[in-house]
Amino acid sequence: MKLSNKIEKKFKEIFQVDPVIIRSPGRVNLIGEHTDYNYGFVLPAAIDMAIYFAISSRSDNLCKLFASDMNESFEFAIDKIIYSEKGWPNYLMGVVDQLKKGGYRFSGFNCVFGGDIPIGAGLSSSAAVEAGLAFALNHLYNLEIDKLSLVKIAQKAENEFVGVNCGIMDQYINIFGERGKVLRIDCRSLEIEYFPFDYNNISIVLFNSNVSHSLASSEYNQRRKECSAGVEIIKSEIPQIESLRDVSIGLLEEFKNKIEPVVYQRCKYVVEEDLRLLKACDALKIHDLKTFGSLMSQTHEGLSKDYEVSCEELDYLVELTKENPKVYGSRMMGGGFGGCTISLIENDVIEEVSKHVMEKYKQKFNLDVNIYVTKISSGTNIISIKENATA
Ligand code: GLA
Repeated sequence: MKLSNKIEKKFKEIFQVDPVIIRSPGRVNLIGEHTDYNYGFVLPAAIDMAIYFAISSRSDNLCKLFASDMNESFEFAIDKIIYSEKGWPNYLMGVVDQLKKGGYRFSGFNCVFGGDIPIGAGLSSSAAVEAGLAFALNHLYNLEIDKLSLVKIAQKAENEFVGVNCGIMDQYINIFGERGKVLRIDCRSLEIEYFPFDYNNISIVLFNSNVSHSLASSEYNQRRKECSAGVEIIKSEIPQIESLRDVSIGLLEEFKNKIEPVVYQRCKYVVEEDLRLLKACDALKIHDLKTFGSLMSQTHEGLSKDYEVSCEELDYLVELTKENPKVYGSRMMGGGFGGCTISLIENDVIEEVSKHVMEKYKQKFNLDVNIYVTKISSGTNIISIKENATA
C-alpha cells in the first residue's frame, strides 16, 4: 500500500472523517553547507522521500496527533502548549505556538502523520514536519499566509520551541521545492533562482552512514558562535560588515593575525564555500557536471579539515566513492557528525559503487550503509482533498 494511503486509512480508523492529505518532502543540499546562517548561498532540492499528513479541522481547541511511525498519540489544547519530553510533539506544537504568536485565528485539528524520511540522516525530517503542518493549517483554516512567511514560521518553530538554532535552508526548500530543479537561495536577501537538474545519465545518490553522533547540536551552535566571533572582530574596525557574506578572502587575510586561528579557519571555509557555490551554479548553467562534482568534493575537504564537522564514517564514505572515475563528486551533507553523504554518480556504475561502499564500510565499522538514489520532487503540496474534509 502507498504510504499516503496507509496514513489516510489510519486517520479514518481513528477519527472517522475524511482528511486532507498533504505531502511534505525531505531535502538534499548539493552545495553550500553551513552558509545559510552566515547569510550566504545554498543549493538544495526537495526529494522523493516525504512525510504525509492526514488532517482535518475540529470545532473545539484540541489538537489530536498520531505519529504513525512511532505508533504514539499525543493531545494538546491550543491555549495550553507545554514542551513535551516525548520529543516529536514539539515540532508540531512549535508551529501552533508560532501561528498563535502571529495572531492567526484557528481552532483544533486531528492529524495522523508519518513517512519514509529516515530520522537523523540529515534529510530534514524535522523541517518536513514543521513546514508540512504550517502549510496544512494555512490551508485548513484559510489563514492566507504567503509561502515565505510559512517558511519563517516553520523555522521559528524549530528555533524557539524545539530549541535548535537552525538556518532557513531546510524549511525554505520544503515549501519552495520544484520537481527536477535545484533552488539557489540567497540567505541574506531571501531571493531565489531555480536551476534545472534533471539528467538521464546521472543521479544524486545518498549514502546513509547510519551514525548520528551526539556532538551534532552542540558543535552546530559552537560553529555559529565561531563565525559570529570572526565577524565581530572585522566589524569592530569596519562597521558595515554584518556577516561573513560581506567578507572577501582578501579582507579575511587582512584580519588573519587579529583572529584566533580556529575562528579564522571556520570563517575561511564559509567565505570559500560561498564562492564555490557561485562557481558550481555557473557550471550547472552549462551542464558541466564534472566541474560541479569536483566543487562538491572540495566542499567536503573544507567541511572536514577547516570547519571540522565531518567524522570518520562520513570521510570514509566520501573516500570510497572517489575511487570510481564515474563518480563526479561526493561530500558529507547537512549539519555533520553523521547522517548522509551525497554523490553525483553516472547511472551505469551506481550498482558497482554501492556494492563496493557497502562491503568496505561494513568491514571497517561493522555497520550497514543505506543507499538512496533520489529524484528531485516538488515542495509541500496537497495530494488529495475530499469534499467534506474541512467541514
Ligand atoms: C542543518 C540546518 C540548516 C543548515 C545545515 C548546514 O541542516 O538545519 O539550516 O545550517 O545544517 O548547512
